[in-house]
Amino acid sequence: MNDAASLMQRADALEEKMSRELDYIVVKSRLYSLAEGDLNPPPNANALMAANPNAQVLMGDDPRLPPMPEKPTLLDFFKYRFGPAAHLLQSARHAVNAGLPEKMVLACLLHDISTIGFIRGDHGYWGAQLVEPYVDEEVTWAIRAHQVLRFYPDESVGYEYPQSYVKAFGADYRPDQYVEDDYQRMRNHKWYMSGRMITVHDIYSFDPKVHVELEEFTDVIGRNFRQPEQGLGFDNSPVAHMWRAMIRPAKYL
Ligand SMILES: [Fe+2]
Ligand SMILES: [Fe+2]
Repeated sequence: MNDAASLMQRADALEEKMSRELDYIVVKSRLYSLAEGDLNPPPNANALMAANPNAQVLMGDDPRLPPMPEKPTLLDFFKYRFGPAAHLLQSARHAVNAGLPEKMVLACLLHDISTIGFIRGDHGYWGAQLVEPYVDEEVTWAIRAHQVLRFYPDESVGYEYPQSYVKAFGADYRPDQYVEDDYQRMRNHKWYMSGRMITVHDIYSFDPKVHVELEEFTDVIGRNFRQPEQGLGFDNSPVAHMWRAMIRPAKYL
């Protein structure tokens, strides 16, 4: 037997062993596959189960992720689901130091929760939708707007087009037409400056020595985020399913 054939054989044996040992099967949502550039049909759950009679598709908690409390709070999502939040914590601290009202501190604290917890593209729109039932309307508006306003300078508050964007997107990058259209609508809105303030405190060059703890904002959250009694995801709000998608991101159905 040549080397390649024996390697193949070993790989097959390993895969078989792994599938025997695993008692659950993960079928990824289409969105995850598309993000990998993968247009193939999803794995066939019936065939996988037939090959491994001990396994079932995931309908409960994912054993690979930390368990969530039964009635999860916003802080629980920061602790158990969101990625590193230093950028949000530093933005919120920056807003406090500038003397912004509490609800705007909250807006700065939450402005990128979609980036760190859900979906990146259009993150301001997703993030605003996630918090809409629980915060002041102006906070929702500002979170949605920050993503658009970031692309447009405003000399009156010293906000320039970020140099990091020139590097990341190229010097000739222009925002999509729907972003431009939203900018035209937002620039004349009564809450324009609230959205703008998020961009002003949306700082990218951090002092690595500055460490901000989430607990610093427990009271701000308590006073400005209407935590549902049943827990985020279980309060029958129009966005409850979006929070549940973060609790169990690989749920089969
Ligand atoms: Fe953002
Ligand atoms: Fe940000």
